[in-house]
Amino acid sequence: MTGDNELELVGLAAEIAREAGELARQRRREGVHLAATKTTLADIVTDADREVEALIRSRLADARPDDGFLGEESDAEVGRSGITWVVDPIDGTVNYAAGIPAYNVSIAAVRGTADPETWNTLAGAVFAPALGELFTAARGHGAWLDETRLQVTTDTPAGALLATGFGYDPSTHDGDIATVRRVMPIARDLRRMGAAALDLAYVAAGRLDGYFERGLKPWDFAAGALLVREAGGAVSRFDTATPRPMIIAGGLSVHARLLEILDTETR
Ligand code: IPD
Ligand code: CA
Repeated sequence: MTGDNELELVGLAAEIAREAGELARQRRREGVHLAATKTTLADIVTDADREVEALIRSRLADARPDDGFLGEESDAEVGRSGITWVVDPIDGTVNYAAGIPAYNVSIAAVRGTADPETWNTLAGAVFAPALGELFTAARGHGAWLDETRLQVTTDTPAGALLATGFGYDPSTHDGDIATVRRVMPIARDLRRMGAAALDLAYVAAGRLDGYFERGLKPWDFAAGALLVREAGGAVSRFDTATPRPMIIAGGLSVHARLLEILDTETR
């Protein structure tokens, strides 16, 4: 026992995710302004990404001044409490900029260093303001969509409804498409929504049977992975020492099948 109060942490994550999501939505209505491109021309950041992260950061600093912070849009800070907040202010920025409602605010509290290989996720909230859905999970307390407890799928008689994502770097597309070709024999169909935290939340909710993607950053999956595990599913990562680690999530049998197919692929 660590004495962490997971329920308090998830309450705070949910409250801040709601406020931050409403700010993102309001800024979207006012019009998106592109602030910069990042790794490639396709990898964008808007003014709203930065403003929303600043809001989340200041709310967390007020409520829990001793905690650390790891966010997509600003410098990381090591805390004194052993807890770090892992934050994506807008996951699905390309959707956000294009006016597609599949974007979200993702906030997780983890214990340990800011290394997903060793940390323990305590609480997570994924809020999709344009869809009006709040997904939450606290370690040992299940995963929830608003007031409804979530459960991953167990049976996939028609094949697995899967989701994936592609990186921003065009040179990685061929490899990712080859990966898709390998999993299609177990798939009923494939979705590419454009927001990794929502993909994971949908696996937790049993809307999707499984999900896989290379190259995610810690803030893309910290909250979503806890949602899947607390809904009875499994999440694995491998190739973590490479620039494009693979993450696999799903109900137990779909997760096992994906792992079997993908962990042996020629890289
Ligand atoms: C991206 C989205 C997308 C995924 C990318 C992520 P961002 O996050 O989650 O679905 O395919 O790998 O980087 O850039 O919109 O925060
Ligand atoms: Ca983002």
